[in-house]
Amino acid sequence: MTYKVALIGYGYWGPKLARNFLNSNNFEITCIVDKSLTNINKARQVFPTSNFYKNYKMVKVDEIDLVVICSPTKFHHEMAKFFLKSNHVLVEKPLSLNTKKVIELESFAKKNSKLLFVDYPFIFSGSINFIYKIIKNGKYGKLLEIESFREQAPVRNDADVVWDLGVHDISILKYLLNSAPIKVKGLKYNTAKIKKKDTAYINLLYKDNLKVFIKNSWISPVKIRLIKFKFQKAIITCDENEPIYKIKIYKKSNKYSTRYKLEVPDIDNSEPLYNLVSYISKSITKNQNPIFAKNFNASITKVLEKI
Ligand SMILES: NC(=O)c1ccc[n+]([C@@H]2O[C@H](COP(=O)([O-])OP(=O)(O)OC[C@H]3O[C@@H](n4cnc5c(N)ncnc54)[C@H](O)[C@@H]3O)[C@@H](O)[C@H]2O)c1
Repeated sequence: MTYKVALIGYGYWGPKLARNFLNSNNFEITCIVDKSLTNINKARQVFPTSNFYKNYKMVKVDEIDLVVICSPTKFHHEMAKFFLKSNHVLVEKPLSLNTKKVIELESFAKKNSKLLFVDYPFIFSGSINFIYKIIKNGKYGKLLEIESFREQAPVRNDADVVWDLGVHDISILKYLLNSAPIKVKGLKYNTAKIKKKDTAYINLLYKDNLKVFIKNSWISPVKIRLIKFKFQKAIITCDENEPIYKIKIYKKSNKYSTRYKLEVPDIDNSEPLYNLVSYISKSITKNQNPIFAKNFNASITKVLEKI
C-alpha cells in the first residue's frame, strides 16, 4: 500500500523528512506547500510530479493520507487542527508551546479516528532503543543518574532553546522512563544578544530517586549531543555525533570501583527519520499508534512548560 503525503514547509528540516518519505516504498509525496516561492522551486527539482501550493488550505485533503507539518512552530497547532479532521498528521517538534493546545489536538485526533505523530527523532534511534532495552532488562543494575549535554544548533526566534533542544531530552526521558518527573527546576538565560533564551540548565527528579541533569545551549563552538546513563554496574555513554560507535559501555569491576572496562556494542545505525517513517507506515496500516498513546505529547509539553 502506498500512502499519499502532503508536506507543509520545505525550509531547513522539510527536505530531510521529504528524503526519508521518498526512500520509503510505502509513501509518495504528491503535494508540497510552502509560502516561499524559492523553496517551492527547490522542492520542484526533487519532486517534479507533485502539486505545489503557497497556502495549506489549497491541499485536497480527500486525496491525501498523511500530512507532514514542518512549518515554523507558531503554525503547528492551527495546521494540525485543520488537517486532523480528514488526515493522519505528523508534526515537527515541538507540537505546540502550550499543554492545553496539545491535549486539544490529542483529543481531536482521537475523536476523528486519526493518528497524530510528532517528530522526536531520537526516540527512533538505534542508540536510544539500545538504552531502552538495558533499562528494561536491568543488566547493569539500577539507573541512578542521567546527564545530557546538547549544545550548538541554529538559533530560532519563535521558541527558546528548551523548546528547541530540551524537547529532545524530555522526549527521550519520557520514552525511556515512561513517567513524568516529580520535581522540575530550570534556569534559562541569554549568553548572546538574541530574542529567545539561548542557554538552560535543567534538574529533574524522577521516581526511585533518579536524578537528571540537562545542559542545552545554542551558543557553543562545538556541537555536543552526549548523554551519560549512570547505572550501578556501568556508565553508558550515548554520543549521537559518533558516526558508528554511538554507544560505549564502561563496566565497573565492582560497586565502588572508579576503573572501568570498555565495551562497544553493535547497534542499529539506521537513520532515525527513516525509522520514524517506517513506524508511521506500520501505524497507519494497523490503525495503532502505541508510542504516542496515553497523552505522550501532553506529558512532554507539560514538563517543558514547567522549565
Ligand atoms: N526534529 C528535529 O530534529 C528538527 C530539526 C530542525 C527543525 N525542526 C522543526 O521543524 C520546524 C521547521 O523548522 P525549519 O528549521 O525547517 O524552519 P525553516 O524556517 O527553515 O522552514 C520553514 C518553512 O516553512 C515555510 N513556511 C512558513 N510559514 C508557512 C506557512 N504559513 N505556510 C506554508 N509554509 C510556511 C517557510 O517558507 C520555510 O520554507 C520547526 O518546528 C523546528 O522546530 C525539527
